[in-house]
Amino acid sequence: FILMLFLLLILGLTGCGDKTVTNVGKLDFENPLNIPELLEPTIGSDGAKQFTLTMQSGETEFLPGKKTDTWGINGSYLGPTVRVSKGDQVAFNVVNHLSEVSTLHWHGMLLPAVMDGGPHQMIEAGETWKPNWTINQPSATTWYHPHLHGSTVRHVYRGLAGMFIIDDEDSKKLPSDYGVNDIPLIVQDKLFTRDGQLSEDNQTTFGTLGDEILVNGTYDPFLKVTASQIRFRLLNGSNARAYHFGFTDDRSFQLVANDAGILQEPVTLDRVMLSPGERAEIVVEFKPGEETILHSFNGGAGIENGEFDLLKIVAASKLTASTAIDGQLSTVPPIDAPKDAMVRQFKLSMESDINGKKMDMYRIDEVVPAGTREIWEINNFGWSHNFHIHNAAFRILDINGKEPSEYERGRKDTVFIPNGGRVRIAVEFGDYSDPNHPLMYHCHLLRHEDDGMMGQFLLVEPGTESQVPMELPKDS
Ligand code: C2O
Ligand code: CU
Repeated sequence: FILMLFLLLILGLTGCGDKTVTNVGKLDFENPLNIPELLEPTIGSDGAKQFTLTMQSGETEFLPGKKTDTWGINGSYLGPTVRVSKGDQVAFNVVNHLSEVSTLHWHGMLLPAVMDGGPHQMIEAGETWKPNWTINQPSATTWYHPHLHGSTVRHVYRGLAGMFIIDDEDSKKLPSDYGVNDIPLIVQDKLFTRDGQLSEDNQTTFGTLGDEILVNGTYDPFLKVTASQIRFRLLNGSNARAYHFGFTDDRSFQLVANDAGILQEPVTLDRVMLSPGERAEIVVEFKPGEETILHSFNGGAGIENGEFDLLKIVAASKLTASTAIDGQLSTVPPIDAPKDAMVRQFKLSMESDINGKKMDMYRIDEVVPAGTREIWEINNFGWSHNFHIHNAAFRILDINGKEPSEYERGRKDTVFIPNGGRVRIAVEFGDYSDPNHPLMYHCHLLRHEDDGMMGQFLLVEPGTESQVPMELPKDS
């Protein structure tokens, strides 16, 4: 055991110790930023918005003159943006044109567990999965990605992911013209082999940490903006790396939303840190003709390590003015847990387990009454991790007994848990109940998730918690 600890320590140190990875000064910002296409729905006879997402393999030219084998959705890398409004009925055809089984999970969505697209909703090669539900949550930048147990690293790293935007009255008051003043930014690190293939080497304790960054699948990108206020939807779609987002001229911006919704009021900041799976919406002001670079600043010793230029932004000489953002943004009340709320404890370890257990597809770890609020306390006993809960939104109460940073307030569904940290969150669970289909909570560092740092919970009809079996039938 001691020997293993020692080995892990060495691995951790060589993988991400004092050696700072950097691409600063290396980029020429030659490629126009790819904006994932907005997927147009067809309207079904029941009024539902119907979308088709096809998972497929292909080739993508990221590096000049080099073709990379990739996976994508309706294309060769990443997938289109889905955009719907609160109250919409949605129906998907998720087609698996890969040569192996996968799943497609709606990260951040409140929906019946059987539609969640987690490890149990497998789509065999050649098959189509047809989930449908009604959008019943506040506006948010959510996303979709595979969740096949043991293979999430590989499926996401090769390119299966996309953005899923939910609008409501509050979000429409912010810049909302997609691709013009409302820009998705999916940030992912990659490691390339000499001939331009995706490499899964540089295995640190967190998995592969890449030294090149793609934004929306574009290497070395620039973006020309034509409006004075731009809403960027930042999504850390990386397997393990965290980013301290800011601008090279240290300009401030307004944080208007994080993972699970719009803030009550904007917060003026110059840095936002996102670990894998987390999102933030920021509004940045531009003057005609100016230029700046979206940058990730070196922030620490683990997955926060490294310094990267991400995207050069060039403002046109004439900019469309937009209305100023201030005052109240959202009327959704902050998430609070009642005084007598159930408190659950989760211990994260260096061995990628939770409460001493590895993920077991047939074991139920927790049973939660649907629609309730609880306090979850997460203690981290080794390495950096984060923690994501399906079918829920939460507010961070405290981190090591102190208030969370300003960028970590509001509604979230994923939280960074520093090494040695203790994080308490007030969780609001969705109100769909289903005693047969579990939902997941897990570390969103995908290698840890694949290694078993995941647990299963059921959302059940309140009062029936003690009646549900803690094991699932093996044929499920
Ligand atoms: Cu983004 Cu359980 O996942
Ligand atoms: Cu982890």
